[in-house]
Amino acid sequence: MKKYDYLIVGAGLFGSTFAYEANKRGKKCLVVDKRNHIGGNIYCKKIEGINVHQYGAHIFHTSNKKIWDYVNSFVEFNRYTNSPIANYKGEIYNLPFNMNTFNKLWGVVTPEEAKAKIEEQKKELGIEEPKNLEEQAISLVGIDIYTKLIKGYTEKQWGRNATELPSFIIKRLPVRFTYDNNYFNDKYQGIPEGGYNIIIEKMLEGIDVNLSTDFFKNRDKLTDLAEKIVFTGMIDEFYNYELGTLEYRSLKFEHEILECENYQGVAVVNYTEREIPYTRVIEHKHFEYGTQEKTIITKEYPSDWKINDEPYYPVNNNKNNELFEKYKKLAAKETNIIFGGRLGDYKYYDMHQVIEAAFDIIKEELDEGSKY
Ligand code: FDA
Repeated sequence: MKKYDYLIVGAGLFGSTFAYEANKRGKKCLVVDKRNHIGGNIYCKKIEGINVHQYGAHIFHTSNKKIWDYVNSFVEFNRYTNSPIANYKGEIYNLPFNMNTFNKLWGVVTPEEAKAKIEEQKKELGIEEPKNLEEQAISLVGIDIYTKLIKGYTEKQWGRNATELPSFIIKRLPVRFTYDNNYFNDKYQGIPEGGYNIIIEKMLEGIDVNLSTDFFKNRDKLTDLAEKIVFTGMIDEFYNYELGTLEYRSLKFEHEILECENYQGVAVVNYTEREIPYTRVIEHKHFEYGTQEKTIITKEYPSDWKINDEPYYPVNNNKNNELFEKYKKLAAKETNIIFGGRLGDYKYYDMHQVIEAAFDIIKEELDEGSKY
């Protein structure tokens, strides 16, 4: 008999949820992560008394009450509501596109006036069959919103001109004809009071965790330790890229401590002009209504991805999705390896979705009668 029931590769939200639930059911788990901290991308580092979201702004939102109650059972959440703003060449607009945005753009006051303006702009260029992302966006919201709020931001995100990007990237653009700056439509939303680490620390309490441990550098030894592996790293790396490499977009984060109490007055500012190389500036203290003397901001720079860079966003185009399906076929043949999480499933998951995905696996693997 092996020492552990499960070796869990990755101490992110997926791996930690699985470990917690397995441990609760009497299974012995070992969690390893190549990083020197737990939490994966939701990890926060406390600097100057402020929880700094090390891997980009993380706002918890869900309409699933079970998931909301579950995360609240580890930590209390505050009432943070994400209301980002866009800065286009010094002009400030509310996001998501709503009556406040339209009023600032065109001086319109009523929803009817706003709708008429958008319709007029959509018709102006007469695009019937959009050939690229630019044409698609203009056909959905008109030229003004596209030029000031979409074009530069999207081009920075993808590292290409909007005319060279396929139209399917933007299927729809949510426009809201109410004066409502709440970014998410979900019923529940907030930030854990004291930061995300509390959730992961509580999940992994009493479980063996080895940090700074890369599965691939200790593959045989680690594999021998457990009956089964839950793998939340990159599925193509697991198979040594034998069928090809799945593509990602990466990000670089530049954190700065500033000698001022309040830098931008809001947690998230999107910079929508192409000329500014970063897409967003995050001021972390606003997530938890901090009153610290100093502040910390993070500039987010999108970048191309190559092997050994941090993979942040899967590029779910046809080519990559087809390749992923081939890896999935290999994975289906495994009897003692479970793939999961955003890298194992090659899917952009929000936090609530990653917990839901973990519950699905838990139910299948551990507990047919699970209440979830
Ligand atoms: P995650 O990547 O967190 O964990 C995987 C872990 O596996 C990592 O710690 C990694 O080091 C480890 N690992 C990989 N390979 C390994 C190996 N070979 N050996 C050992 N360890 C290995 N969601 C949301 O709900 N609201 C939000 O506001 C945001 N914001 C956001 C911003 C940005 C910039 C990104 C990229 C993502 C978000 N998200 C989000 C999504 C959120 O980050 C995501 O849902 C979870 O962190 C995914 O958890 P996982 O455990 O799947 O992966």
